[in-house]
Amino acid sequence: MTERILINEVGLRDGLQNQPSILSTDQKLALFHTLRAAGIRDFEATSFVSPKHVPQLADAAEFLRLLPQDRSLRYTCLIPNERGYERALAAGATGIAVVLSATEGLNQKNIGMSLVQATEVCERVVRRAKDEGLFARAYIAAAFACPFEGLTPPRVLFELLDRMRTAGADELAIADTIGAANPRQVKDVFQEAINRYDDSHVAAHFHDTRGLGTALAWTAAEAGVRRFDSSIAGLGGCPFAPGASGNVATEDLVFMFNDVGFETGIDFNALLAAVGTAATMLQAARGGHIVPWARSRPQAAE
Ligand code: COA
Ligand code: ZN
Repeated sequence: MTERILINEVGLRDGLQNQPSILSTDQKLALFHTLRAAGIRDFEATSFVSPKHVPQLADAAEFLRLLPQDRSLRYTCLIPNERGYERALAAGATGIAVVLSATEGLNQKNIGMSLVQATEVCERVVRRAKDEGLFARAYIAAAFACPFEGLTPPRVLFELLDRMRTAGADELAIADTIGAANPRQVKDVFQEAINRYDDSHVAAHFHDTRGLGTALAWTAAEAGVRRFDSSIAGLGGCPFAPGASGNVATEDLVFMFNDVGFETGIDFNALLAAVGTAATMLQAARGGHIVPWARSRPQAAE
């Protein structure tokens, strides 16, 4: 039996928000099209945060409007507060992702709110989004560890996940924001999450800080997770969470899942072209672990 894996490409948001150079809207569109051509259908397109804090995504509204309107494509936009939600709505967003950190320290640093405030704001935004017919995803950032407060107790994580699901979130994105989780923690947390919420509502978001990204993704898949975030060429990281490095690379996940016989709907060789595009645009693009091997094959795409 073939099983589907959904890959949500977060490179256009998580990937670009931390880059020293700012891509033009046209460059972002060109990157989007190479990703789309490889078969990616789910995108975190941008974020509606303060352009002073994240100038890389200051063109959020314009970029969103330029994306093709196609029912087979899903776009989400990261939303930090009600102002961001209003901006997204005005730009025609059809999907949003609120970002709630599991700790006091990271909420303060990331969005200037206490944990209690951030939880209430995220609940309100998710409820509004559902009332207004949007797809709503809720990140719980620092789900395993926080750069300021150390290990996150699973009890705290599940309280927040419950609150977001009760508010109506379609998808709960459990995020190892700084790439500090180990496979045992991932197994325990995702088994519990799948039991509580069902795999249709659970997504895994890993960073590859310690090179464990694919190991963590595989562990989550074995626990039943079928929705994964990743970023082309392993771009990414949060400017407000010290120690966060790139997301697990899309090409690494796609290669792994295709190779074991899951169906991602994504063409690995075509994805290598997108890695090339990202690398040309951003010198900082390191590329996934699979890239040197893939490029050394005689039949390599380029
Ligand atoms: N979009 C655009 N501008 C916004 C905004 C939004 N969603 N929310 C607030 N602002 C503006 C305010 O109007 C204010 O503008 P001014 O300086 O011109 O008066 C400024 O941003 C500061 O707003 P304030 O309410 O005082 O909050 P803050 O300084 O604590 O900033 C955030 C709050 C959420 C806007 C800011 O922390 C932010 O953008 N964080 C980025 C989070 C992020 O992208 N993290 C990475 C992904 S997890
Ligand atoms: Zn991230």
